[in-house]
Amino acid sequence: MTSIRKPVTAGIGLRLPHIVEVVATRPPVGWLEIHPENFLANPHAMELLIELSEHYPISVHTVGISVGSVDGIDRTHLRRVCALVDRIQPFLVSGHLAWSTYRNEYLNDLLPVPYTSETLRLIETHMKEVQDALGQHYLIENPSSYVGFRASTMSEADFLSELVSRSNCRLLCDISNVVVSAHNMGYDALEYISHLPVDAIDQLHLGGFTAEPDEAFPGTDVLIDTHAAAIAESSWDLYAFAIRRFGSKPTLIEWDNEIPDLATLTDESLKADQIVTKALSTEASCANTR
Ligand SMILES: [Fe+2]
Repeated sequence: MTSIRKPVTAGIGLRLPHIVEVVATRPPVGWLEIHPENFLANPHAMELLIELSEHYPISVHTVGISVGSVDGIDRTHLRRVCALVDRIQPFLVSGHLAWSTYRNEYLNDLLPVPYTSETLRLIETHMKEVQDALGQHYLIENPSSYVGFRASTMSEADFLSELVSRSNCRLLCDISNVVVSAHNMGYDALEYISHLPVDAIDQLHLGGFTAEPDEAFPGTDVLIDTHAAAIAESSWDLYAFAIRRFGSKPTLIEWDNEIPDLATLTDESLKADQIVTKALSTEASCANTR
């Protein structure tokens, strides 16, 4: 598999409302992330993306490759993504631990899978198919969770670790998804981060979430992974903890709804870089005093 040099600073999502401004102003961010599905049927946006790919490292984050689907992945869509990857040579390609298609129907959601050995076998097969087609590693992202399956026989972190060792895939750890899932599912976010395989983490995400009253449990809130708000303090705190464990990793500021102006995104990416510097210097000074 090819290995492409990765930036270690923060990047932002290249969303259609900003693309002309990004081309014109070239904001000071480490890299750009795209959803290929936004560009495949938009020739003008694709032209601008190809121009930007000469100036920024690009990360491709798929939302349409459904590795958790029981009836297989959409090979036509996979071929389209591979053609785009060949054109822009991204430093990473990633997707979700989820399913979103069934019998040629595309559902506008990333739906959960039970963590069982049967699911492992299914996703392992699909991951190998995707990585063989891409000719590079595929990163799988931990989901934001709202419900669990009684059928699950292992924790999410153990499931991801086993998937890494079976399929030789890599991991994208969405820090805010860990905050959301830990709150909603009632587990310890620090413990979750501590159980992920350090050597497999290639990218991090930080996104905003929204608290809503939980109708099932009156008086409590459920956190919804809306990507429609600034990054919460709890996510920044967990990010600093994760950086001390994983080291500096390319980190995406993920904001997909109620998208703010470009300067706000750039400021969030600079904040992420500052937190990395502080977390690693604190770690170094602690090591020196041990
Ligand atoms: Fe994410």
